Amino acid sequence: MSEVFKVGLAGLGTVGTGVLRLLDEHQALLEARSGRRIEVRAVSARDRSRERGLDLSRYEWCDDPAALAQRDGLDAVIETIGGTDGPALDLARACLGRGRPLVTANKAMIAEHGFALAETAEASGTALLFEAAVCAGTPILQTLREGMVGNRIDRIEGILNGTSNYILSAMERQGEDFAEVLCEAQRLGYAEADPALDVGGGDAAHKLAILAALAFGVRPRFAEVEIEGIRDVRAADIMQADRLGYCVRLVAMADLETAPGGGSPRLLQRVRPCLLPAGHPLAAIDGPTNAVLVHGDYAGPILIQGAGAGSESTASAIVSDLVALARGEARPSFSIRAADLRPAECADSGAREARYYLRFVVADRPGVLAELAAAMRDARVSIQSLIQEGESAPDGGGPVESGTMIALVTHKAPARNVRDALVRLSGADSIVEPPLAMPILMD
Ligand SMILES: NC(=O)c1ccc[n+]([C@@H]2O[C@H](COP(=O)([O-])OP(=O)(O)OC[C@H]3O[C@@H](n4cnc5c(N)ncnc54)[C@H](OP(=O)(O)O)[C@@H]3O)[C@@H](O)[C@H]2O)c1
Repeated sequence: MSEVFKVGLAGLGTVGTGVLRLLDEHQALLEARSGRRIEVRAVSARDRSRERGLDLSRYEWCDDPAALAQRDGLDAVIETIGGTDGPALDLARACLGRGRPLVTANKAMIAEHGFALAETAEASGTALLFEAAVCAGTPILQTLREGMVGNRIDRIEGILNGTSNYILSAMERQGEDFAEVLCEAQRLGYAEADPALDVGGGDAAHKLAILAALAFGVRPRFAEVEIEGIRDVRAADIMQADRLGYCVRLVAMADLETAPGGGSPRLLQRVRPCLLPAGHPLAAIDGPTNAVLVHGDYAGPILIQGAGAGSESTASAIVSDLVALARGEARPSFSIRAADLRPAECADSGAREARYYLRFVVADRPGVLAELAAAMRDARVSIQSLIQEGESAPDGGGPVESGTMIALVTHKAPARNVRDALVRLSGADSIVEPPLAMPILMD
């Protein structure tokens, strides 16, 4: 194979321009590795006149990205527009429907429409690849699809959002609360102007649903991911966790329970802040880094970590997919054919047992502790230790303006009992703000 591998690129933002730079800079290296010269022939974005720090005159310009699906002579199209629906989805459907391979970095689109798109690709004998959609250039999808293909995997855990991890790590280091650290993260470019998808857990949930499909061979429903973000975590919680030997991380976790008697397996998908013991492999993941811990039955636990965003890292993943296409090595999008992915029921998360860190801000008056203890007793949650009781948060932990902070650790209890205890307390006059509950993960 020596003919040029011709590519169309839709989207010339952070990721798209990174792809153009990488292809230019590593042209000879890529030609040697893929056996073909990879060339971008046509590009599309919204604003043709925008300065992008690149010479675009050598590429054909398409105002409409969907034109890249129709243009003659392209071997593949790269989509870096973004968005669950809209022009990205139109382009993906048009390319795959006519048998043109598509490479995308779009986790939202793959989490919501990935199975339908993969079925379209399979029906027309083409490839849909999206390594960049999960952890950017940290090659977790290839690891699952190829390196760990011989393993049964029944659990996967990860730190899948660099912005949240940056914020939690900075809160830990600086003893500052969420809002202050978020402003700093926005100033430094680690958080978007609208951080909702990152700090609310939605971005990690998109990636988790994709990972669950590849790891377990099932069709996760994105709507069934239980999502809780990091906005309610205080510096005081992080400090208390530290005193107990834990750190706080936004952990995305999925596991598959096999049903007795051969019924549909049950899938749990959850993104939430958790306490991790110091020895847990994810506890050491600091700053904007992403990491995924995969438990293979033969390979054992495998930890893969690296940059989870950024122009260069994301371009690296897109180009790895392009090289696979140029070599004729593309594998099924979800490791097995989309049509063969098994349906999975939603597992009963309420039955899962863990110890919990619970934090309350309560009115400073007699009898409040007894009220908390009674709610715990009635919900059958036993308290292992009361770890803080005072008129304010611990030193440097940020102020608790309107009440007293009480934090406690429970003995192991089913999640539904803990929820029940919080529901029992929800209308109480003594509770000044909604409580925070974080499970303690074991290493
Ligand atoms: N940034 C990262 O670190 C990262 C990491 C992993 C995955 N991703 C994913 O990569 C994708 C792109 O992210 P990004 O950060 O590169 O976004 P971005 O900087 O906002 O770039 C988006 C590009 O799409 C173009 N575009 C938007 N609407 C369009 C339309 N209707 N028609 C044609 N072009 C249109 C924009 O054109 P103009 O420039 O003319 O406005 C822009 O060039 C997203 O799916 C994202 O989730 C990003």
